[in-house]
Amino acid sequence: MRTKQNPELIEHCGMDLLQAITTRSSIRRYTSEPVDEALLQTILNAGFCAPSADELRPWRFIVVRERATLGTLARGGMWTGMLAGAAVGIVIAGDTRAQRKEPLMIEDCSVAAQNMLLAAHGLGLGAVWCGFTHPSPMADTCRQALGLPGHVQPVAVLSIGHPAQQAYQRPRYDAAKVHHERWGGQAP
Ligand SMILES: Cc1cc2nc3c(=O)[nH]c(=O)nc-3n(C[C@H](O)[C@H](O)[C@H](O)COP(=O)(O)O)c2cc1C
Repeated sequence: MRTKQNPELIEHCGMDLLQAITTRSSIRRYTSEPVDEALLQTILNAGFCAPSADELRPWRFIVVRERATLGTLARGGMWTGMLAGAAVGIVIAGDTRAQRKEPLMIEDCSVAAQNMLLAAHGLGLGAVWCGFTHPSPMADTCRQALGLPGHVQPVAVLSIGHPAQQAYQRPRYDAAKVHHERWGGQAP
């Protein structure tokens, strides 16, 4: 039974893990179809499954479905316009009381974000990561629009919806960026 503490999670998405990693692409156009609650909670759970420094899990997730708030977030940054057409936005913020070392807090939030992007893709949704620095106009917009307390620092917003565009990932392996044993070392 689904409860607030124990959401009914989707356990299989039918997409192989490596296939998800190698086919995920940023999706910035969405249909008007809403994102089902079970899909959303499965994506959130993927975030909660991420590793974190000292296992502090400083991430906090603010789920935004209201059109007016999505519009405000869309206007908050230079490259965030797609949020106006998203079914849902997930603002990923770090609790600076939980992880006081800011670089680690941002890394923790970032791995949660990547887990969620992959989960969204595996579930057939489209998503894109909107990142910003702190301070920045987008960080201020998140803080004001969502009423974030001072110790909670916004790190990124995920824009999610049912895809209205197709995107393909080209092969990306780049041997020139791989070094063996030492900087400049060649493959055996
Ligand atoms: C830290 C970070 C910040 C990003 N910020 C934005 C953004 O503000 N707006 C946007 O449209 N895409 C943003 N992206 C998505 C990148 O543009 C995208 O990942 C990149 O072009 C590669 O394309 P792909 O996601 O399809 O592989 C961001 C990605 C990362 C990792």
